[in-house]
Amino acid sequence: MRTLESVTALRSRLQDWRQAGDRIAFVPTMGNLHAGHLALVEQAKQHGRRVVASIFVNPMQFGPGEDFERYPRTLAQDQARLKAAVADLLFAPAVAQIYPAGLERASRVEVPGLSEALEGEKRPGHFAGVATVVAKLFNMVQPDVALFGEKDYQQLLVIRRMAADLCFPVEIIAVPTVREADGLALSSRNGYLSRAERARAPVLYQTLRQSADRLARGARDFAALEEAGREALDAAGFAAEYFAIRAADTLAPPTPQTAEVVILAAARLGTTRLIDNIRQVLVK
Ligand code: PAJ
Repeated sequence: MRTLESVTALRSRLQDWRQAGDRIAFVPTMGNLHAGHLALVEQAKQHGRRVVASIFVNPMQFGPGEDFERYPRTLAQDQARLKAAVADLLFAPAVAQIYPAGLERASRVEVPGLSEALEGEKRPGHFAGVATVVAKLFNMVQPDVALFGEKDYQQLLVIRRMAADLCFPVEIIAVPTVREADGLALSSRNGYLSRAERARAPVLYQTLRQSADRLARGARDFAALEEAGREALDAAGFAAEYFAIRAADTLAPPTPQTAEVVILAAARLGTTRLIDNIRQVLVK
């Protein structure tokens, strides 16, 4: 598996594959790869003859005071994991490859509406950074298929909308969240947790699960469930940022017609910010 750093080298490698008629499946990441990322690579192999992964810690999607500088960068280990997972190519550009004129002057992709609530409200500019870098990567790789994790559920919907609105000829595939045995969703940010915080972290998933189970048993007072979720997180030592029940397809507040919801939560444990979500079908 080769690692390429320049767009020129990437394009010439991909041209050969495309001329041979190979379908290309793409897995964009920020590196520090874990079993969640590798599940995307595994799925990608079902969708394309060639699997291209990218590692780029995208400065545009981090806000001031967020963890851009300390985000874990583990290229050699990531290369070994991608090789073992039999990816065909890694694109690992430097910031200057992606933003040659600097961040301030770079053109941006905005996805209004979907980007504004939840993560977008807590992290202003975050989804413009995500949509911009993913659009650029799509133009560089020109994949037939691209895979994203349900772990970042709002991101998945933002990217689907961006790809549809801008007519990218790419199929977006969603991959279920990979979890530790105790329920904690795998995340590069879990490495920031102290031992004591790590022991408490599964409460985030347990709280989502409880809320989903109540919905499954017929509870429909969404506001009360959201309040109970926030309180349970705070009682367990988290600082809840949001705990929201939304229509799974649009992230709008559910109505009596909503067939499936997603329960999304973000909470801080010490200095670490964790997000997670689960979906629940509403039986009438
Ligand atoms: P990153 O956090 O590295 O995640 C890369 C991909 O892996 C995303 O699609 C994410 O949803 C997925 N992923 C992360 N943890 C997962 C888990 N536990 N189970 C399943 N999938 C998981 O998301 C980003 O990078 C960036 O925003 C990016 C899309 C690359 C744009 O910069």
